[in-house]
Amino acid sequence: MTTPISAQPAHDDRASAAAASPVVLSPAGPADHWWQSAVIYEVYPRSFADGDGDGVGDLAGLIHRLPYIASLGVDGIWMTPFQPSPQVDQGYDVSDYCGVDPLFGSMADFERLLAGAHALGLRVLLDVVPNHCSSRHPLFQAALAAGPGSPERGLFHFVEGRSSSPEHPSDLPPNNWQSVFGGTAWSRANPGSETDTEWYLHLFSAGQPDWNWRNPAVGDYFDGVLRFWFDKGVDGLRIDVAHALFKADGLPDAPSESPVVDGLRSNPLVSDQEEVHEVYRRWRRLAEKYQPHRLLVGEVNLEPSRAARYTRADEMHQAFAFAFVKLGWDAAAWAQAGSELEEARLLHGAAPTWALENHDIVRTVTRFGGGDQGARRARAALAALLGLPGAAYIYQGQELGLPEVDVPVEARVDPMWARGGVTRDGSRVPLPWTEDPAGNHGFSTGPTATPPWLPLPDGWGDNAIESQQQDPGSALAFAARALALRRQLWADGTFTADDAGTWRLRAGNLLTCERSPRFLVAVAMGSEPVELPPGVVLFSAFPLEQEGWLQPDNAVWLRRS
Ligand code: GLC
Repeated sequence: MTTPISAQPAHDDRASAAAASPVVLSPAGPADHWWQSAVIYEVYPRSFADGDGDGVGDLAGLIHRLPYIASLGVDGIWMTPFQPSPQVDQGYDVSDYCGVDPLFGSMADFERLLAGAHALGLRVLLDVVPNHCSSRHPLFQAALAAGPGSPERGLFHFVEGRSSSPEHPSDLPPNNWQSVFGGTAWSRANPGSETDTEWYLHLFSAGQPDWNWRNPAVGDYFDGVLRFWFDKGVDGLRIDVAHALFKADGLPDAPSESPVVDGLRSNPLVSDQEEVHEVYRRWRRLAEKYQPHRLLVGEVNLEPSRAARYTRADEMHQAFAFAFVKLGWDAAAWAQAGSELEEARLLHGAAPTWALENHDIVRTVTRFGGGDQGARRARAALAALLGLPGAAYIYQGQELGLPEVDVPVEARVDPMWARGGVTRDGSRVPLPWTEDPAGNHGFSTGPTATPPWLPLPDGWGDNAIESQQQDPGSALAFAARALALRRQLWADGTFTADDAGTWRLRAGNLLTCERSPRFLVAVAMGSEPVELPPGVVLFSAFPLEQEGWLQPDNAVWLRRS
């Protein structure tokens, strides 16, 4: 059904008024394909730097700290949402896709940020959240007000519920789908009303109603959103929950045997519907109307063979390879996952886009065992990641070796905690900039320093950026060295976009990935030192104790002899 109402973004008219920020960059890879070699740094704005001292990170803080990001040697940033939002899901509940939430600053601040980043040679990617909006979004509010059967409701999934008995019409959700955050994926549109007995679908919290992508007006609306940011000079978009926009026609019950622990992955009816690919073909055409072409990177949380279909030549440029995120320190499992990704690359052409951390995932230091051992493994894993064929994304604080924080129960704010008993707050704690505790360890640089939105744990200052910058043995110094060498190897032709990824599990749990006959990445994932294949070690996560041998929890880049 095509709704006759206008679904254009409220601020579409601002697009032409804003001066586009010119992109003057010297990419490491071929000019049109800069993203193939890129390393992008994920900025979670609330926790990066607080420029006004209110305890929440903001655009002013980020502008101030841009030189730090540039000094890492990355190619750009991906910023998680800063658009107006009630912040039910820390910004992933957007109420105005083309604005800036006053919590983070103003549109003028964003324009300064974009120009400042470009001047430093950094690309800027934003998050677009097309699966759902905020329940405070004007179009959802209009849908609620317009009532059952209205075209306004056609933009979302409003459905009559089931009835436990004739006396209680529509007292049960329309189907058995579960929210990713826990509990039913349905809420009553108008609780208590006898005339409006519809429910609306939300795969995440009740404050995040899902758009109905079967209504063409929704696609038109998002074209306007993309154009707005592309016109401003934004270099690309990370697409949130990219595989879930379309739901099975008719919204049938999920097969009863489907586990309900993780709504999206276990329910084939809310994810990976064939129709979704047409959206990304359309977005790719739009992205390529701009010079330089804008980049599309998807959060496609599917097995490699399915996820790779989203990066076919006319769809997105990249989709995160999340395979290793789900694995412990297990060489056999990594070799298997790596081989599956390679098979998918051979089938569909796009190299994997590596990520080991983001704002939804337990930090690697903790995932790989915590303490000194976890820190060593996290560093070795990052070394491996940066040597693999394909682009890579690193998450703020990963370069510092930050561990997951056990945020006190009373301070947890993640909606997943309230609905599902799991919290992602531990990877979102504000960055420690200084050892000195003043100004929330340098996180807050404004006139006052209100306590940060998530409390900093004791000893947080031990990880401070300022101290790590002075220490050649620090996680930060290691990350910067790895990034610099990676850049050089792309520039001198050692790394190319055509490199393969041939994974092997070798004796002693030595994991290797050969990207060409000349170059190999090796990670020692066992408990004993292992002999390396012949070659020259170009880089190692930690100094080698004995030539030709790799100690446990170390990784190397090897030029084959
Ligand atoms: C993505 C985001 C996550 C958010 C969810 C719903 O997975 O990374 O933080 O909660 O989408 O928008």
